[in-house]
Amino acid sequence: MTSDHVALVTGGGGGIGAATSLALAGAGATVLVSGRDELRLQACVDAVRAAGGVAYPLSLDVCDEGSIRDARQKALDLVGPVDWVVANAGVAISAALTSDEVESVAQKQMDVNYHGARRVFEAFLPHMLQRGQGRVVMVASSAALLGYPYITGYAASKHALLGYARSAALEMRSKGVGVGVVCPHYVDTPMTDASVEHIVNKTDRNHDQARAALADLNPGGKLVQADEVARVILRLLQSDSSGVVVELTGSEQREVESGLPLVPNTPKGD
Ligand SMILES: NC(=O)c1ccc[n+]([C@@H]2O[C@H](COP(=O)([O-])OP(=O)(O)OC[C@H]3O[C@@H](n4cnc5c(N)ncnc54)[C@H](OP(=O)(O)O)[C@@H]3O)[C@@H](O)[C@H]2O)c1
Repeated sequence: MTSDHVALVTGGGGGIGAATSLALAGAGATVLVSGRDELRLQACVDAVRAAGGVAYPLSLDVCDEGSIRDARQKALDLVGPVDWVVANAGVAISAALTSDEVESVAQKQMDVNYHGARRVFEAFLPHMLQRGQGRVVMVASSAALLGYPYITGYAASKHALLGYARSAALEMRSKGVGVGVVCPHYVDTPMTDASVEHIVNKTDRNHDQARAALADLNPGGKLVQADEVARVILRLLQSDSSGVVVELTGSEQREVESGLPLVPNTPKGD
């Protein structure tokens, strides 16, 4: 199956990013798997190609505007304008409010999780507007909807991302560009593995107990799977509504906000 879509996935070498790259390529999109770790990007590209899809690695640090500009030019030269962006790159760092790291940890997470997603979308938006078509899906978190102890910086960055996406969805609705958001609870990825290690180091729980404790925090009672998140992302990219927000609980997908239909857009000159 082929489609005309060119997709950029940030953090494409990671758990949700790699699963999303596979899902989008499976739907026929040409996928630019972006991130900072070349080996992990290439491993994901190899997996997509082995499954019969089309993918290329693309070096892109969401905290570096020069890197984003270079990536945009490389993408244009290689495969043409990007019309699907999955703003997935993220970091999760626990810190108690009383710890010495709370300031640096808050700033780091705002820089990657909020400004990083915003920067990438805004960099690729002009090409979408020129063509009168485009979609972005922001990978937020249940921590965009709820608070959790010891992750104030992470929750604040994801709340900021959700607020940005809601406003961008309204602003872009009549311009052919749709904005969707996924809010997964704990997902079975390397990020959650790191949270498990953190719990093991800070408490008397062993690995299995720590993992079970995180799964128990999910309303569905089990970890969300990365390929389920990927399928929801694909659905939002293919949607003609903007502002849709989907929460993934581990056992179900809840449409927290159903968005509004995109207003048909005619590019200038037609
Ligand atoms: N796992 C969960 O429980 C969970 C739940 C809800 C939401 N999320 C969100 O889902 C997204 C993906 O997380 P994951 O669970 O798949 O974790 P992951 O495997 O750790 O993936 C995170 C990805 O982000 C990339 N990244 C970090 N900083 C970056 C930067 N400055 N520039 C470009 N890429 C950067 C990493 O790439 P490199 O380091 O290789 O460059 C990595 O590929 C994140 O936004 C996360 O907040 C995760």
